Amino acid sequence: MSEVLNIEKIAEIRANVIAEISKSSTEEEILKLRIKYLGRKGIISKFLRNVRDVPIDQRKVIGQELNILKQKLEMLFEEKLNEILNASVNPGKEISLKDVSLPGRRKTIGTLHPTSKIVREICNAFLPMGFQVVEGPEIELDRYNFELLNIPKDHPSRDMFDTFWVDWKNNNGEYPLLMRTHTSPMQARVMESSEPPIRVLVPGKVFRYEATDASHEWHFFQVEGLVVDKGITFADLKGTVYEFARTIFGSDRKIRFRCDYFPFVEPGVDVSIDCFVCEGKGCRVCGKTGWIEIMGAGMVHPKVLSSVGYDPEIYSGFAFGMGVERIAMLKYGIEDIRLFYSNDLRFLKQF
Ligand code: PHE
Repeated sequence: MSEVLNIEKIAEIRANVIAEISKSSTEEEILKLRIKYLGRKGIISKFLRNVRDVPIDQRKVIGQELNILKQKLEMLFEEKLNEILNASVNPGKEISLKDVSLPGRRKTIGTLHPTSKIVREICNAFLPMGFQVVEGPEIELDRYNFELLNIPKDHPSRDMFDTFWVDWKNNNGEYPLLMRTHTSPMQARVMESSEPPIRVLVPGKVFRYEATDASHEWHFFQVEGLVVDKGITFADLKGTVYEFARTIFGSDRKIRFRCDYFPFVEPGVDVSIDCFVCEGKGCRVCGKTGWIEIMGAGMVHPKVLSSVGYDPEIYSGFAFGMGVERIAMLKYGIEDIRLFYSNDLRFLKQF
């Protein structure tokens, strides 16, 4: 036979528990009391199970009262426990009797932008070869972006770099500031401020006044490389770029060099890898040629070396520059460069 369950009984239990709680003074006592009343075999739980034996006309009220009491006790136990803990050795520490096995609230954490990821991957590929990573200004002087790189004023090769000029005139009526069109100005800056041997990588944002389409953005990232020392030859350039291509695109990559023109290198080349999708047979990714261009490169032009005060008879070097998004697009099969900077989380979350 179960105990009689009515409103008076519930009131009696309430009074008892409250008295017992106020008499307790340790964490242990409270936890024990809680088990006594609210535990699986506790008094309240037992009564809740017995609600079905209550005469039908009172059943609803009794059930409600028991549940109200149960909630109240949860609260009282928690309050008392915090009071005990606060008063003792752990001021400020709150503990909760809530169900700790419930799933927690998910914290949303950001991830690296795909460009940042690939910049790191590119830099990491060069680090074992002894490169140091440096950065330079995004607003640059004409002197570094062009002049010291063997691109004098009014030289037609300036057209290669559709430039955003900064609307600021100096005392001579010139506009000396621009948004850098490539990371190559850092070649001159690094050489000017240090002595060979030089082995640097320069990741950074560049800007071009261009219409955007699937393969053009008006701002994008490049990673520049520069090596200057005594006795650096084209073979060093080849070996370095080859190692890089194999690290990023797979260990069986071949590389190809073709003549190209950049005013600050001589000879200048464009570097391609054999297509890693079709292994050089020709497919959509490589435009049916079997080869994919990945960077511009060459031996530092003697005029550039002299313009920063190096003797080209003593020192030689090579430089290369690659478009970061292009490398990411190839590696991950991304078809539109505009996706990188249109802030669409569906795209960004994939990396
Ligand atoms: N700065 C060149 C560009 O933006 C790339 C390059 C860098 C070419 C270094 C040769 C050497 O196109």
